[in-house]
Amino acid sequence: MRRKMVAGNWKMYGRRASARILAREIEDGLPAVLPIDVLVCPPAIYLEAIKGVLGESARVMLGAQDLCAQGEDGARTGEISGAMLLDTGVSHVLVGHSERRQLLGETNESVGAKLVAALDAGLIPILCVGETLAEREGLRTEAVVVTQLQAVVNVAGNDAFARCIVAYEPVWAIGTGRNATPDQAQAVHGFIRSWVAEQTDQEIADDLRILYGGSVKPDNAAALFAMPDVDGGLVGGASLKASDFIAICRMAGETARAGT
Ligand code: PGA
Repeated sequence: MRRKMVAGNWKMYGRRASARILAREIEDGLPAVLPIDVLVCPPAIYLEAIKGVLGESARVMLGAQDLCAQGEDGARTGEISGAMLLDTGVSHVLVGHSERRQLLGETNESVGAKLVAALDAGLIPILCVGETLAEREGLRTEAVVVTQLQAVVNVAGNDAFARCIVAYEPVWAIGTGRNATPDQAQAVHGFIRSWVAEQTDQEIADDLRILYGGSVKPDNAAALFAMPDVDGGLVGGASLKASDFIAICRMAGETARAGT
């Protein structure tokens, strides 16, 4: 049985004080027992401060939004390695978020290299894939997602799927308020799982967690999380408001308890 996860992507928002308050509110507001994994991904410069707030909290884990593709220490001005993230208490790292692909020059190749660097460092990568609106309208969703997944297989091998999490994030749904319908999400999640099963084996595919991201909100989360291949959410905007994020986590918890 796959454990559901809700991950908050804080992107480039907040300041030290507000980020600390948000983390404190989430930590304090979550039920004591929740049958899901909860992760927050603050801006890198605040990871240490948020680690200080969360302490050794077993309920909220710490994620980073990016890492350097090079594993070893070296001359990479401005970069942060996987080893440094691990050293700061980070357990997960987003790789290939569409904003980095679209605005910050990431390619399928660099995403693959970063995924390898994350695994080598002992981090769990959350590989983000998803199509643009033009690609969806051109009926190219599956082809685009396969290209993105295949790029990772090319450098990390099929085994990578035994050690990472995938986030399906249709670009047209990110930050737009227009989420994929539960059926649209399920169709792509189911496709990803069967593709991974073909590449690897059914057990790895069955264990792979596939999160949905793109305008997840308290009013749509329950229906999305109830879909059989949607194993939780990667939440942007709504993760910046503790009450919304907590509500989404509770819904994931309820669907987990209901066994969907
Ligand atoms: P959103 O962002 O929830 O604000 O659409 C999701 C993401 O970018 O991960």
